[in-house]
Amino acid sequence: MKAVIWTKYGSPDGLQLQEVAKPSPRDNEVLIKIHASTASRADTEFRRLILPLLFAIPVRMYIGLFRPSRIKILGTEFAGEVVAIGKDVTQYQTGDQVYGYTGLGMGTYAEYMCLSKKPSGLLGVMSKRPTNITYEEAAAIPFGGLEALHTLGRVNIQPGQKVLIVGAGGSIGTYSVQLAKHYGAEVTGVDSGGKLDMLRSIGADHVIDYTREDYTKNGQKYDAILDTIGGSPFGGSVRSLNENGTYLNVNPKWHHKLQMGWNKGRTSKKLLSWEGGYTTENLLRLKELIEAGTIKPVIDRTYPLEQIAEAHRYVETDQKKGNVVVRIGD
Ligand SMILES: NC(=O)c1ccc[n+]([C@@H]2O[C@H](COP(=O)([O-])OP(=O)(O)OC[C@H]3O[C@@H](n4cnc5c(N)ncnc54)[C@H](OP(=O)(O)O)[C@@H]3O)[C@@H](O)[C@H]2O)c1
Repeated sequence: MKAVIWTKYGSPDGLQLQEVAKPSPRDNEVLIKIHASTASRADTEFRRLILPLLFAIPVRMYIGLFRPSRIKILGTEFAGEVVAIGKDVTQYQTGDQVYGYTGLGMGTYAEYMCLSKKPSGLLGVMSKRPTNITYEEAAAIPFGGLEALHTLGRVNIQPGQKVLIVGAGGSIGTYSVQLAKHYGAEVTGVDSGGKLDMLRSIGADHVIDYTREDYTKNGQKYDAILDTIGGSPFGGSVRSLNENGTYLNVNPKWHHKLQMGWNKGRTSKKLLSWEGGYTTENLLRLKELIEAGTIKPVIDRTYPLEQIAEAHRYVETDQKKGNVVVRIGD
């Protein structure tokens, strides 16, 4: 089968299309023919190993000290078809169309991969895919959709409440905007200028270009502020919340963690950090929301697997709106 082998930490040139052996499923695994994946922000960060120091060391031990030697195939989101099953698998049959997220297991820049019958958590999650969209659209849902669904679900947003989303134009952000609107919120999306029209088109009531305006200094108050990237000023964000408002940071930097820990119990405001939520149940809930037309993936560009390096380079231009999809096979 064709797969993109991750040969070195660093530039996209280290992603090389090669012919490798097709895997066979173990007793508790399914073999998936992958039709689409994505080039996500995290894929580019893993590729370069641009990770917070405390995380980078264990990740290097896990992936390979000097080069990716244990995990050789990048890519975390997928949509595809089950083409073979191990003897202990009862939840899936050949022919099932599935989608999911392999997390630290990675491996989706390939024509085939094996996944445990009931993966869950950071080593992968899978379910049947939405039936009303293409494989390419389905592949752009799992990571951003799961983060947004789980995180906003912790706030119990009420109709009319004001929600501000930092990094609204990205993968997590575009699902967060749509879900917050679905819950009845008045939504403000914060991102760079080139993404603001797209944010309005998916329902944002207000948009702020973070390169021109600081949302913590415009006098507005919010019931919830969701930071998808860990780029928010902590003190200013908390001051921009109504009493009993909620600050959610799904990518807290070390200083956010310290500030959140220090302020817990000292403020009436809720301070929430990343929690995960990678479950089959959540993927099935996203499937329902997509099939009902409540949310949809925002897809900026699609590249064939052969052009994976170009896809990564595009993501690194910071122009990506929503998601960049990778088409695999014909
Ligand atoms: N995708 C994954 O599988 C995964 C897994 C684990 C963790 N994460 C982390 O989660 C974070 C978000 O992921 P994502 O996939 O949603 O990223 P994304 O698609 O790159 O979206 C992030 C968005 O935030 C914008 N942005 C950057 N700085 C900002 C600021 N100061 N204020 C407001 N907006 C700002 C970016 O726009 P500009 O670039 O134009 O500034 C971009 O539109 C990333 O840091 C990623 O490392 C992702």
